[in-house]
Amino acid sequence: MADKREENLFTLYPYFNAVIDSAEGCCVRVSDGRELLDLASGQLSVLLGHSHPRIVAAAQSQAARVVHLGNRFFGTATLDAVEQIVSVCPPGMSRVILCSTGTEANEMAVRIARAATGKLELVGLSKGYYGCSHLMLSLSDYVGFIKGTGVRSPGVHRLPAPDCLHCSLGLSHPECGLQCLTLGAEMLDKESTGSIAAFMVEPVLGSGGVIVPPRGYLEGVAALCRKYGALLIADEAQTGLCRTGKWWGMEHSGVVPDIIVASKGLGNGFPVAAVVTRADIEQKCINAPLANMSSHSFDPFGAAIAAEVIRTLKEEGIALRATEMGTFMLQRLEWLAGRHRILAHARGCGLMLGLDVVGKDGKPDAMTSLALEAECLMRGVIVGYSAMSGVVRILPPAVITREQVERAVEVLDGAASFLEENDVDVSRYMPEHNGSALLAVSFLRRMMKK
Ligand SMILES: Cc1ncc(COP(=O)(O)O)c(C=O)c1O
Repeated sequence: MADKREENLFTLYPYFNAVIDSAEGCCVRVSDGRELLDLASGQLSVLLGHSHPRIVAAAQSQAARVVHLGNRFFGTATLDAVEQIVSVCPPGMSRVILCSTGTEANEMAVRIARAATGKLELVGLSKGYYGCSHLMLSLSDYVGFIKGTGVRSPGVHRLPAPDCLHCSLGLSHPECGLQCLTLGAEMLDKESTGSIAAFMVEPVLGSGGVIVPPRGYLEGVAALCRKYGALLIADEAQTGLCRTGKWWGMEHSGVVPDIIVASKGLGNGFPVAAVVTRADIEQKCINAPLANMSSHSFDPFGAAIAAEVIRTLKEEGIALRATEMGTFMLQRLEWLAGRHRILAHARGCGLMLGLDVVGKDGKPDAMTSLALEAECLMRGVIVGYSAMSGVVRILPPAVITREQVERAVEVLDGAASFLEENDVDVSRYMPEHNGSALLAVSFLRRMMKK
């Protein structure tokens, strides 16, 4: 089939030349026959691997029964899914809404928090990302996404990110006594009206550069929630459903949120998401102006996939696998960071790993990070880069083998050496699509310039 990208696609994002035909496990097949090792799980989603046979079978079987019902009926698959979801949530988290995407589910979580508390303002984290609706971009730290097409919604605040590796205060933990949080609390005291409905956190900040909060940080955010009578929303899009070695990323801190939002991994690539909360919070919303008219909430098709994903995560012991493979992979990334000028600070949690890509000044550099992503792609490995932070994100499917990890490390090693030895312009990787190359560069400039 002729490649009509330049004619037919509205290009929003820098893309590479590879056109993908099919995918299985950790491997993605390009239409020209090449096979790529996918360390990004698509968009950080296919924790069970591409085209997992159990998920394919569940989807095929449900597609033949019923896909969509509308919002006045529930399907048997929907009841199965919500039961499965509740079975892996903390005790008392027993009320589930199914949605389609992470953005939609976060919007729903915020509306629940506003309805339940009668308050309006929101607090996120700097270096946080919560989705691409106007409100979620307002709360996120990606000002570059909203610039030119909107302005931030009023009443949103961000606490300083718990980024100890790049502490903006130049302090180190634990001697700092979490000054970032103290300053954040002072800022809220000054800037907020006090009517705060929710704090939204990623238990490990993904797009901001795989930032694992230091001990005490999330506990501190929970204390701020209590002070303001706000709810704590855990956006578990990247951290949820075993990715970090536990069912939920929040479990590492011991803090139980009021609302959990699961997306990405819940559908193993299919768009299905869940908002989970307690019965007392649901009760507070009953007489509040909270309606949900989305055509696809609770659709049995997505529900059947979600239910089978959770059963498979349980039966294949994916949490343990993520811990074991994550530990092994982190060691290999630390080895790489020790060998290369452009690579620094490997870190992460389970199979959610990050590697700083730095420029000549030793500071994170998104342009070099994109070049590294492209060079790895040329050599057969997909890694995820983060425009906001210049961090290469490694979130592979949990079915990755040790041999595949070694292959990935070899490719990263060769690509990093190549970039160290050559002055590389990212546009060289998109030669046939100059529009895309220009887009990549302007996109990064926009992202990095706050
Ligand atoms: C932490 C986090 N929250 C929310 C979202 C938005 O999810 P979606 O793209 O499914 O709308 C993302 C997507 O990358 C994410 O990483």
